[in-house]
Amino acid sequence: MKPKLRIFDDLEKISIHAANLFSRQAVRSARRFLVALNGGGTPTRLFQLLATDLHEKVEWAKVHIFWGDERCVPPEDAGSSYGQARELLLSKIPIPESNIHCIRGELPPVEAAREYSHILQEYASHPLDWPRFDLVYLGMGEDGHTASLFPGSPVHIMEAVLPVTAHYQDRPANRVTLTQLVFNSAHMVVFMAAGEKKASTLAEVLSDRYNPELYPAQRIDPKDGELIWLVDKDAAGNLPKKITRKYCEG
Ligand code: 6PG
Repeated sequence: MKPKLRIFDDLEKISIHAANLFSRQAVRSARRFLVALNGGGTPTRLFQLLATDLHEKVEWAKVHIFWGDERCVPPEDAGSSYGQARELLLSKIPIPESNIHCIRGELPPVEAAREYSHILQEYASHPLDWPRFDLVYLGMGEDGHTASLFPGSPVHIMEAVLPVTAHYQDRPANRVTLTQLVFNSAHMVVFMAAGEKKASTLAEVLSDRYNPELYPAQRIDPKDGELIWLVDKDAAGNLPKKITRKYCEG
């Protein structure tokens, strides 16, 4: 399906829009609502908004929270995506503990990945071996990575979850990530990207030049779901007009 591109003034407006998508989709969903969160700096305001302004609008007991990836650090570590979401969101909403399905970053990557794939199997949407997420949030690194799918990582994979040993910002990083098999079966994938440092990569990712080895964000293409890019005007700064015309709605 063709991606939708929505351009906002700043990250605050992106976050408000992303939070409203969450509550709207959750209200529509008759049964349980399966969401995968991302880490990094971009979603922190979204988490705060969900915990405050949107707190009352969501029936939290039916929401199940997963993660698209995790760094292999303990939950107390500043790099833990679970720790960040717990502090900003999960500790502030009435969500049952049994609805929180984190990747255990305190384990080594292979073990954590194995454990997480078992959790995903428990929520699998037949005939898949993993759930069809109702909503997935993703970020994009300046190098075009998304979740922990880094440039140069294998594109043709058969696994839903992978242990990753990557070098990111010159530091080795042990991680666990979902792969595009899972993201591409979701009902809705929402990318959020802000800041001019992401502008040239965003222009490549949304261009007709398909290079998923170099730009893993291009691997995300839900076959039977919506792909929505929420970006600020700085991140959109290098997009040629033909791209904004092609993907912007209205
Ligand atoms: C993480 C995610 C990663 C992130 C991008 C963007 O770091 O937890 O795995 O894919 O979404 O690196 O990060 P920022 O939001 O910090 O720019």
